[in-house]
Amino acid sequence: MNELPGSNLEVLLDAETIAGRVRELAAQISADYRGRPLRLVGILKGAWVFLADLARHLDLEVTVDFLSIASYGNNSYSSGAVRITKDLDQSIKGLDVLIVEDILDTGQTFEYLRGVLEAHKPKSLKLVTLLDKPSRRVRPVRADYVGFTIPDVFVAGYGLDYAQQYRHLPDVRIWRAT
Ligand code: IMP
Ligand code: MG
Repeated sequence: MNELPGSNLEVLLDAETIAGRVRELAAQISADYRGRPLRLVGILKGAWVFLADLARHLDLEVTVDFLSIASYGNNSYSSGAVRITKDLDQSIKGLDVLIVEDILDTGQTFEYLRGVLEAHKPKSLKLVTLLDKPSRRVRPVRADYVGFTIPDVFVAGYGLDYAQQYRHLPDVRIWRAT
């Protein structure tokens, strides 16, 4: 993988490590929802790769929808000001819903999304996030399922971007400016 000028990337979580943890999460989620249909709601774009891998290991009746959001402000860290650029295609009223996120950072995005989705009256609403950076939290939110807790570093790959780059990398890497 060629790094763009000005970027240095160091592998934090390799593809095998991610794959192993995704299987564990899928087993836990399958056990917790046993016998109940589950609606996955992936938050685009970051959650696309994680959702694809997670969904294929769920031993449940699964349906999938996506919500696309864009943050205002700069293109790396979120400012918490979010707008929906693609709404859900199907109603979640009365359903068990699991939101699939790439990363929980300050918690502002999830706090906003939770409010939007709860207004649609799902039967239950939980969150699975591949990555969690609890040290950066400014809002009192937590995920029900966490893949990896990571330190306060900026990461890219496996769906996550730096300025829309690197989403296609098979691993999660620490991004640093050179
Ligand atoms: P929050 O509102 O601060 O929790 O931000 C969540 C969103 O910020 C994520 O869905 C990402 O789009 C973005 N984000 C936060 N930290 C990182 C990171 O380290 N790499 C890439 N995107 C990140
Ligand atoms: Mg992003």
